[in-house]
Amino acid sequence: MANRPGDGTRLDPWYGSYAERTHGLKVSETRALFAVANRPEVVSLAGGMPFLDALPMDLIAKVTADLIATEGAVALQYGGGQGHPRLRAQITEVMEQESIQAHPDDVVVTTGSQQAIDLVTRIFIDPGDVILAESPSYVGALSAFKSYQAWVEHIPMDADGLIPEALRQTIKRLRKAGKRIKFLYTIPCFHNPAGVSLSLERRAEVLDICRSAGVLVVEDNPYGMLAFDGSVLPAIRSMDQDGIIYLGSFSKTLAPGYRTGWALAPHAVREKLVLASEAAILCPSHVAQLSIAAYLENCDWLGQINVYRQIYRERCDAMTTSLAEHMAECSWTNPRGGFYTWVTVPEGINTKAMLPRATTELVAYVSGVAFFADGQGSRQMRLSFCYPTPERIREGVRRLSGVLARETELVALFGPQGDGAGEAVRNPAPDIT
Ligand SMILES: Cc1ncc(COP(=O)(O)O)c(C=O)c1O
Repeated sequence: MANRPGDGTRLDPWYGSYAERTHGLKVSETRALFAVANRPEVVSLAGGMPFLDALPMDLIAKVTADLIATEGAVALQYGGGQGHPRLRAQITEVMEQESIQAHPDDVVVTTGSQQAIDLVTRIFIDPGDVILAESPSYVGALSAFKSYQAWVEHIPMDADGLIPEALRQTIKRLRKAGKRIKFLYTIPCFHNPAGVSLSLERRAEVLDICRSAGVLVVEDNPYGMLAFDGSVLPAIRSMDQDGIIYLGSFSKTLAPGYRTGWALAPHAVREKLVLASEAAILCPSHVAQLSIAAYLENCDWLGQINVYRQIYRERCDAMTTSLAEHMAECSWTNPRGGFYTWVTVPEGINTKAMLPRATTELVAYVSGVAFFADGQGSRQMRLSFCYPTPERIREGVRRLSGVLARETELVALFGPQGDGAGEAVRNPAPDIT
């Protein structure tokens, strides 16, 4: 018999009708805080938004206007489910920067790499299947994994990224317990949120471990090109084709508003991804794809990435020097690219509990608990240096150090707050991803 509104609650008459997986989707408690964090007087070290003022807007306006004038009827039409062949060919050229050799037929254009994460999870995960992920990991991926009822097993990292021996032991332990491991999800470059990169030697080792254990690797690499010194590391995908799905994005190297990313996958997997994508969205935005194609053809896209690198390097310097000056009691990672540093605060401080006080003092960050599926992270926070100017970053860290000092006094007086245990991953607000 069909469910009726009566199966629900007063607030949501359809509560009793939702699929089981929907109950795992909860609004982030920090969403409300982020509404506050976006006020201009707050220095937000929280969001992962690229600094779009650095884009050549006039040029982009011109190539986009030309596109509509000359090819408008095509650009504004539906397109193929796999993505436009012109852009797929250009994407293979972009990936050459990371030493990847690929054929456009194996590229699937997606609505941001977030959709690629969703599609990969959708085609591989049954409830209870295991996904291996770094500890910590990207909040948007954890959220997608959770929505498909995957079990996420975190693997420790250090300054050189994922620790291969820990990966080996975890696979062994899980297999012994009869678990079905579906893939390793890894962010090898300028990790979100950890800020570190997987060393070259470890890339080969991680690949080797996964290959011999028959574990698929999902390499999510939106920041790889944003090495401050321009030394782009070869992707793991450059070392193997069959056991890897590579995910890329134009969000960080161009602009997230296009919502355009891609997956590069072995043939059979690619076919499944296309079918799943068609079922979800029919086709990725044609006008966004052709606008990016026109940008790549007519603008100095590598020069633009260099501009971004300089800006982010300067901001990262401002962040780490201010941390050294004001928050020496903490430790943090030293990024060589990307958007984020990962800060560990002194014992007894709970970054989730401290966040409302920080926003009252007009500074915002993301508490570490958002980046774990299992309630860890209450002594960590992610600080982003991509969006605020160096002056604002310095001011933000100065404010944060004041919050931390008062919190330390409170802890000394009243003892530590709860450790945030039991805090599962929540759906992130779009501006904290
Ligand atoms: C590691 C990682 N993967 C994927 C994404 C999603 O990016 P996109 O805008 O391409 O969907 C982000 C965004 O912050 C990210 O940090």
